[in-house]
Amino acid sequence: MIPEPPFALLAELTHRCPLQCPYCSNPLDLERAANEMTAGEWRNAIRQAADLGCMQIHFSGGEPTARPDLEALVAEAAVAGLYTNLITSGVLCDRARLEGLAAAGLEHVQLSFQGATAPIADRIGGYAGGHEKKMSFAGHVRATGLPLTANFVVHRQNVHQLDAMIDMAVEMGAERIEIANVQYYGWALKNRAALMPSRDQLDKMTVSVLAARERLKGVLVIDFVVPDYYARRPKACMGGWGRRFLNISPSGKVLPCHAAESITTLAFDNVREKPLADIWLNGSAFQAFRGTDWMPEPCRSCDRQEMDWGGCRCQAFAITGDAAQTDPACALSKDHDRLVATALQDAQSEDDFVYRNFRSAKALPAL
Ligand code: SF4
Ligand code: FES
Repeated sequence: MIPEPPFALLAELTHRCPLQCPYCSNPLDLERAANEMTAGEWRNAIRQAADLGCMQIHFSGGEPTARPDLEALVAEAAVAGLYTNLITSGVLCDRARLEGLAAAGLEHVQLSFQGATAPIADRIGGYAGGHEKKMSFAGHVRATGLPLTANFVVHRQNVHQLDAMIDMAVEMGAERIEIANVQYYGWALKNRAALMPSRDQLDKMTVSVLAARERLKGVLVIDFVVPDYYARRPKACMGGWGRRFLNISPSGKVLPCHAAESITTLAFDNVREKPLADIWLNGSAFQAFRGTDWMPEPCRSCDRQEMDWGGCRCQAFAITGDAAQTDPACALSKDHDRLVATALQDAQSEDDFVYRNFRSAKALPAL
């Protein structure tokens, strides 16, 4: 089967970040600045992605504005005809820099928040003063006229602020708000017990989101991502492995998903060594779970196999140790009951955060 071209590239320019969110999806083994691709290597990769048929590029990290050459990369993408989105914490970028990025061709900004008030948000992000800087940055986005999506990652320790988060997004003039429950890979898996909401919290947040969607029709679009551990059927993670998205890590590894490095049984090609098109079409990591041929039962004989593509490979690996298993978020998986029991137990925990930083990364054993 010859795959369609990828729709979007997630360009993880760096793992450096002033924040230390305990739910970060970056690998525990964070990439050092010395291993990052140069501007020239990134520009080459961006051109290859456009030639391959990509429509969008999402500049991400870590914190992408930590790269002083971001403007040149945005310009390269714009010239290549890609729709450009910046996924940022907003704490390193002043108004002049944002105007420069807009002038280079930036078309959209996605700004992340850790909560609705400074004491909670700054504790979760592990960065004093961060919330106030984010609020200023949201003002800069409005002033430059760029469309804004406000991104809130919710979990047990901030979900009581959900209504206030939605009000905040309305006040700052966001077009869209994404309320995403933590997905448990990378650092988030390490911190699962400190983050997992209770089922009661999930029920309440669902009621709040549905009410807000009704109230804010025509004002704000609300995307809501539920926690997999309490679902009956899995999400179509990445829109199916190797179907719609590709990710390039700071050092040039080409991944089928931002968390794919958590699957230690896969080997990843590097765009510094091989053409991107070759990796997309023939790379062993992309081939491993593309389509439906790899599927075990119950997916193999399930009528949802081309809807959810068997769920999430990273989650299957994290829970079962085998990325080729049915995602345990599916109630038909033999591992589903164990997943739910884990969630209920974690929701009772009093664990503290292990913050995401290079120091902890060094101290932690791999998962
Ligand atoms: Fe999806 Fe597989 Fe569950 Fe069917 S059995 S719903 S294809 S994860
Ligand atoms: Fe990697 Fe779902 S997060 S496939």
